[in-house]
Amino acid sequence: MTVSVDIDGGVAIVTIANPPVNAINRTVRERLLSLAQEFDGDPAIRTVVLTGVGALFVAGADIAEFDRPVEPPFLPDVIARIERAGKPWIAAIRGAALGGGLELALGCRLRVATGTARFALPEVNLGIIPGAGGTQRLPRAIGVAEAIRVVAENHTVDAAEAVRLGLVDALIEEPLLPGAIAFAREVLEKTLPPPSLDRPLSAPAQEVWTEAEKRIASRAKGASAPLQALEALKCGIEQGAKAGLARERSTFLSLRGSEEAAALRHLFFAERAALRPADIRGIAPRPVATASVVGGGTMGSGIAAALLNAGLSVVLVEQDAAGVSRARDTIAGLFEASRRRGHITGEELAERLGRLETSIGYDDMERCDLVIEAVFEDLAVKRAVFAALGRICRPDAILATNTSYIDPRLIAEGLPGPERFLGLHFFSPAQIMKLLEIVPTPETAPDVLATGFDLARRLGKIPVRAGICDGFIGNRILRRFRAEAEALIRGGVPIAAVDAAMRGFGFAMGPFEMQDMAGLDIAFLHREAARARGEPVPDLPGDLLVRAGRKGQKTGGGWYDYEPGDRRPQPSAEAERIIAPLIGPRKDMAGEAIVARLMAAMAQEGQAILEEGIAASAADIDLVEVHGYGFPRRRGGPMFQLGRADVNHA
Ligand code: 3HC
Ligand code: NAI
Repeated sequence: MTVSVDIDGGVAIVTIANPPVNAINRTVRERLLSLAQEFDGDPAIRTVVLTGVGALFVAGADIAEFDRPVEPPFLPDVIARIERAGKPWIAAIRGAALGGGLELALGCRLRVATGTARFALPEVNLGIIPGAGGTQRLPRAIGVAEAIRVVAENHTVDAAEAVRLGLVDALIEEPLLPGAIAFAREVLEKTLPPPSLDRPLSAPAQEVWTEAEKRIASRAKGASAPLQALEALKCGIEQGAKAGLARERSTFLSLRGSEEAAALRHLFFAERAALRPADIRGIAPRPVATASVVGGGTMGSGIAAALLNAGLSVVLVEQDAAGVSRARDTIAGLFEASRRRGHITGEELAERLGRLETSIGYDDMERCDLVIEAVFEDLAVKRAVFAALGRICRPDAILATNTSYIDPRLIAEGLPGPERFLGLHFFSPAQIMKLLEIVPTPETAPDVLATGFDLARRLGKIPVRAGICDGFIGNRILRRFRAEAEALIRGGVPIAAVDAAMRGFGFAMGPFEMQDMAGLDIAFLHREAARARGEPVPDLPGDLLVRAGRKGQKTGGGWYDYEPGDRRPQPSAEAERIIAPLIGPRKDMAGEAIVARLMAAMAQEGQAILEEGIAASAADIDLVEVHGYGFPRRRGGPMFQLGRADVNHA
């Protein structure tokens, strides 16, 4: 039974029991509606307590239903019926009341909650706006300015704030139900407040709207839902609740069917599936309390910071005193930047640094449960590190490499206990980027693999399992993407047109701007090494630029020119002259066609990766692109785009 009823001396206790998150699906809606009707006709019932089973109240409407047309009874009607019920409904909330869950609670005449309660309307993350009265009842319950933050800016209200704002009428200690029932009996003796929708409301000053619009638009990154949520809220204040509800519902329904919402739902489910791959479900990870990071350069310092942020103790190993002090300074600098932005306090900063130990050599390895190697991308250097680790670490310690391109099987050759070895490929900056490619070798033990996934969860990262090939999933697609972008410019399409098209699609930077930022030299050296091995690698425009000393922003220019201290790219006549021998006659191409070419290239590489079993699913490839390479979230990823193209052309 997804909704159960108990009667306790005139109080009906309605419990939504739809694990794992008590999502409101059609059955729940039907049952709530019929119970509201039934109770009103039952003289034995005086009041109703509505709660959810388990650790949370209700996480919202059932997102799995959103790929189908809406089916009656509709949630706004169910909530309206509860709000107007003859027998007052009281929400008893433990844990999260999100989206439709908060809207349902707002339809109740009163709300009681435990200290674990939290309230949010996260619909905009799914490309939609609240669709069951949230934009109308919330401002009437807590005030317009606060409601704007919740409705359009993703603010979560905790229990204490909810009491202060009047969203919660009483805090109750566990056990929740007896307290809620006693509260319900007490309020029957008093005059009840009016339903949320009937509460008086004063329109805020015009600046409140203008400032909110500015704030929301600047953070929306091209997404349309946050501003539309604000518009629905505003409509209800300027034209009244009835008009506001109608506006909210029509916006909700049209956004629900949009490509943006489909993309965001696709990612919502993909992200959750990624944390629990079927083949390691039920396998216990090894405990990891202390980790070592070998190599404290760009990646090692970021990885150490990520581990410290997640509460682990870290031993960072460098080659010499200079390396150790550089790494410590980098990590301290990262924490200091977090403190300045208000993400952590001074005490938290000190506590995190207190868990960091640095070392020249491998003295403290006995207590490390996991070692992540992040030394130079050089097979001989990495092998020497693992030879030492194999001798010094405990036999049950997990040993991981952060290599970008080298075959992990070669790195692990000769390692005693190869079943404890795997690739953990972080992305730069490692303390921020969410992606973690997990690369098992054929010998990696299942519990070692499970530990990799568990570590990702603890670090707040999205793990994607990748098979072994040159570049794994992400860098392999990146190479193809860049090659296609270069093919476009060799065909005469202007560099700036390619970059502008990709920015228009939603990337923060185009492929050439990105190369200028990261430096053109690494890929150049890669190609030069292949040429030195006798491989037939043709000269590319990027090679000509590097040979002419244009390695990107760090040399004052690459594909573009840069003024000193200014990262804004300026078209470069010099770069054009240098690459001219490899560039065809100018060809203008529409932005959409450029995007289509680059998307097709990425998706084709993705298909090959799938066919070779390098990625387990198309959704995993999308997660790699979104969380590792800045693919715009609202576009769902290259494989999602491919699916949409197939649908649109069918
Ligand atoms: N509908 C359907 N399934 C949902 C769901 C929802 N609203 N919320 C979570 N789930 C599923 C997840 O897909 C996952 O399924 P799986 O076990 O098969 O992978 C399972 O519930 C557990 O979810 P999590 O792994 O995310 O569990 P956590 O404990 O980490 O987080 C949570 C719980 C905070 C509730 C988180 O799941 C969450 O944020 N959910 C989404 C909340 C949301 O966006 N609500 C708004 C929905 S839209 C709406 O209400 C429209 C309304 O205005 C009309
Ligand atoms: P880096 O050059 O910034 O840092 C390497 C560090 O390793 C240096 O500080 C060096 O002193 C140290 N080191 C070298 N040999 C050592 C040894 N034997 N013992 C202890 N320390 C040693 O390099 P970066 O960029 O951090 O790359 C490290 C690894 O991470 C490489 O395998 C690279 O391919 C990979 N990677 C790099 C990414 C990037 O964006 N830079 C992204 C993902 C992976």
